[in-house]
Amino acid sequence: MAQIELRNVQKFFGAVQVIKDMNLTIEDGEFVVMLGQSGCGKTTTLRAIAGLETVTSGEILIDGKEVQNEKAADRDIAFVFQSFSLYPHMTVYENIAFPLRAVGMSNSERDKAVKEVAEILRIPNLLKRRPSALSGGDMQRVAIGRALVRRPKALLMDEPIGALDAKLREEMRAEIKRLHISRGSTSVYVTHDQIEAMSLADRIVIMHDGVLQQIGAPEEVYLKPANLFVAQFVGSPVMNVADVSVSGNGGDVSVVVGKADAGFAFPQSTLGNAKAGHELSLGIRPEAVLLSHDKSDGAIEVKSTNIEPLGSHDIVDVQIGSEVLRARTESGFVSGEGQTVWVNLDPTQAHFFDRASGLSLRGHE
Ligand SMILES: Nc1ncnc2c1ncn2[C@@H]1O[C@H](COP(=O)(O)OP(=O)(O)OP(=O)(O)O)[C@@H](O)[C@H]1O
Ligand SMILES: [Mg+2]
Repeated sequence: MAQIELRNVQKFFGAVQVIKDMNLTIEDGEFVVMLGQSGCGKTTTLRAIAGLETVTSGEILIDGKEVQNEKAADRDIAFVFQSFSLYPHMTVYENIAFPLRAVGMSNSERDKAVKEVAEILRIPNLLKRRPSALSGGDMQRVAIGRALVRRPKALLMDEPIGALDAKLREEMRAEIKRLHISRGSTSVYVTHDQIEAMSLADRIVIMHDGVLQQIGAPEEVYLKPANLFVAQFVGSPVMNVADVSVSGNGGDVSVVVGKADAGFAFPQSTLGNAKAGHELSLGIRPEAVLLSHDKSDGAIEVKSTNIEPLGSHDIVDVQIGSEVLRARTESGFVSGEGQTVWVNLDPTQAHFFDRASGLSLRGHE
């Protein structure tokens, strides 16, 4: 078990910078998920922690000790890759036992370690099989077992279940969580699947273009996105973002979406640091765009422009001035396009961002 710290880490491949001044502390026993689009630098960061990649500058510390110049073998960190990297000619037992060869354990100690890991991963019945006779999920269990058997200081996983089908991914997600709870090893897990990130992480690290955007508990990045990128990256369907202007002072202010004829009244306190006259971006999730069939206080009359039926609910697009906002409604709530409905916004779920920098204007709460 270990604490891992990155200080001002930079990584260039030739002239291209793929990690930009990364600072991050992963606490002992913590499960951190790195989330970001393809090419944002997740694998490179993970490989740098493991020692499979050098860093151009900055420090990597394990339990307070600088390791950026140490070889991978000396860092005692295990790595699980996305592709199943099992030895095909060995049995499951031999695959899991393999990392223990160099450790100089007695046969009985080794046997005990392999069986314990197999038990945790619920694969004791598969120990005699060869990888070719395993399902994708079981192969990845064996790969995780092989990584864990040495009781490494930390476990790094790079999209370990990305290649599995959706149902199996869901099952494996629960298993990985259970495994983490029972073993408690410091874990860094890479994915570009936000549901995986939300369900597994103690804290999520969101990256974009080599830059760390936000670190926080899943509910924190969902409820308090630090900037527009995070706001639109986390949550499905995507958070609405619309150009708005704010006018008025004291008490309520008027938030005008897309230069519409009328605005929504928001308490000043929901605007964070935003001031009247600001050209802002409003971020609001579809569940906070409230539709009704009747005129209600503060609502604006709009037309539906598109309906997306999703079984458990619908996503209804409505036009407000030059902007289209997506609302989450009960199934069938709006029967077709071009229908007149009344829309209101829940000010407690509104986010305001500086349009130029993309930064949240949320005040300190
Ligand atoms: N060995 C290398 N040489 C040159 N460029 C590289 C090398 N490895 C990675 N890159 C580049 O660095 C950037 C970050 O790559 P990285 O593999 O870390 O992204 P990632 O976030 O893991 O993406 P993915 O989700 O697709 O796995 C990419 O633009 C990639 O092309
Ligand atoms: Mg990758």
